[in-house]
Parts: sequence; structure tokens; C-alpha cells
Amino acid sequence: MTVSPEDIVLHVCATCRPQGGPDATEDRPGSILQRGLEDALAARATAGAPLPVRVEAVACLSVCKRPCTVAVTAPGRWTYVWGDLDPAAHVEEILDGLARYAETADGIVPWRERPQIFKKGVVARIPPFPAPRTAAAE
Ligand code: FES
Repeated sequence: MTVSPEDIVLHVCATCRPQGGPDATEDRPGSILQRGLEDALAARATAGAPLPVRVEAVACLSVCKRPCTVAVTAPGRWTYVWGDLDPAAHVEEILDGLARYAETADGIVPWRERPQIFKKGVVARIPPFPAPRTAAAE
């Protein structure tokens, strides 16, 4: 299957916050991370180095005890979920990791090439959606 790099989606939990963190969604670290990633992607595009990733905010990724959390996915590629991300420190490292993800056919970046935050913060990896069964396989 040919995968268009434009199909890479980074889901960012905009509601992530540490225990006792701000109530207003726009003030939560997850929302700050979302905006930071969108701004950094725009800056890279303006600088002539666009990254083929689209950011989509979500309300929760069920990794609430490890804020902030994101999940990257694309057709035919493994999905990864990461936590423990800091919006003040990790935006560029996240994008560097996604650049490596974009270079792969299946989403699996060799361990030694992954950013440290992806090594330490990985929560789950989920296989690509399987191809439909053929009549012969049933
Ligand atoms: S609030 Fe972010 S994972 Fe649940």
C-alpha cells in the first residue's frame, strides 16, 4: 500500500493536565502542547521544511496519569501512544520524532533512532488496521 505522508495524524490530548492543574481547557498543558505543535509545524513550513503531519485535538486518550499525551497514526502504519510530554520542553523533539516516523513505510522507527522522549514515554503501539480478508483466506 502506498501511504501518503499527508495522511499522518498526530492526535494531541488537549485536556491533559497534572493533578490539580487548571480547569479551563485552554489553560491546560495538553492544550498548550497542541498549540505549540501547530505553531512549530507552521514555522517549519514557513522555513521551507514542512512536516507532513496534521495535528488533531482530542478530549482524552485514556492516559490521564501521564500528561501530556499524544498518539500518531497513519494508514498502513503502526500507531504509537506516548505520555509524559512537557509542552515547554518537548515540541521540537516530538516533531523530530515524527519526521523519522514519516520516513518509514510501516511507522516503526528503529529504537536507537527514536527521540529519548519517545523511548521513555511510550505507552502503547498498535498494529495497522488489517487488510480485508479475501475469499480464499476465509
Ligand atoms: S485527559 Fe489526557 S489522556 Fe485523559
